[in-house]
Amino acid sequence: KIQSVVRGVGGYLPERVMTNEDLSKFVDTSDEWIVQRTGIRQRHIAAEGELTSDLALKASQRALHKAGLTASDIDLIIVGTTTPDRTFPATAAILQQKLGITKGTAFDVQAVCSGFVFAVATADSYLKTGMAKRALVIGAETASRILDWNDRTTCVLFGDGAGAMVLEAQEVADDAPENGVLVSSLRTDGTHWEKLYVDGGVSSTQTIGHLRMEGREVFKHAVGMISDVIEDVLEKTGKATADLDWFVPHQANRRIIDGAGKKLGIPEQKTIITVDKHANTSAASVPLALWVASEDGRIKSGDLVMIEAMGGGFTWGASLIRW
Ligand code: ACO
Repeated sequence: KIQSVVRGVGGYLPERVMTNEDLSKFVDTSDEWIVQRTGIRQRHIAAEGELTSDLALKASQRALHKAGLTASDIDLIIVGTTTPDRTFPATAAILQQKLGITKGTAFDVQAVCSGFVFAVATADSYLKTGMAKRALVIGAETASRILDWNDRTTCVLFGDGAGAMVLEAQEVADDAPENGVLVSSLRTDGTHWEKLYVDGGVSSTQTIGHLRMEGREVFKHAVGMISDVIEDVLEKTGKATADLDWFVPHQANRRIIDGAGKKLGIPEQKTIITVDKHANTSAASVPLALWVASEDGRIKSGDLVMIEAMGGGFTWGASLIRW
């Protein structure tokens, strides 16, 4: 059988940090309100001219370095993003050019905040069916470009960044111990799309548009949806939450993370939190958290790691990974 094994992760955050205090100078908000409602203290913001593919490139180079590989070893690039450089080509194609390779397949996945989890599940399928050998799976966003900086109900929540993971197909004996991506569960329910969307686009308005959100509605659905896919993945693998070494949730909001942890019975000490420093980086949040926690030595080889995300669409998904 074939296993999709994690070879390395990398991340990149733009240099510029914007604190809650900085934000309160141009929108009617406060550090206290933002921290209390979301747990966010600061976010990184891309420089002028620094595009999603630039962030993706830096995260990819770090992931490749960790994996001991070079770009020429990669034959599949999947970028989860909702803030592509251009309407087309895919940011993955631009990234492929920046990595200096021409072989294999490169495309984007559009599942908003769930983009990375959807990309991991897609790459896993490619690897397990022999369609590719080594995949670069990325979540990269410059959310700052689609925020309405006059809307305090949304602009305080998001940040820019990118995270990348190298997955490799390894052929092993049928009775070999479990390794790599074990099972993923992905869901979409389009009836909710108007609760979190961008009010522009090529076909509808010929504008880029801004992010719009009914925050309370998103909040109301989040914990239930997250728990639903995590329970599905646990059931399919015959595991319990007690078997998890690490819970790496999408970093939208501390209260959603705590709510999901509580519902599922996952202790705080096993939960990776970066939302305080990164804010919500959409598709980049999970790989950035994986990067932070593997760099600081928390996530180690052999650990059982649950990743999950929920976002616009609504989309939601989870993957269980033996590191
Ligand atoms: N600063 C100060 N006051 C604010 C701010 C702000 N940035 N934003 C809203 N307020 C005010 C509102 O105007 C309102 O004032 P009012 O009572 O005078 O009308 C008051 O604060 C309460 O507003 P609510 O929207 O009811 O606040 P709530 O407690 O619901 O918190 C929040 C808002 C943080 C957005 C919450 O609904 C939430 O976390 N939702 C989940 C959304 C999310 O995380 N989305 C991310 C994208 S989706 C994803 O990644 C899962």
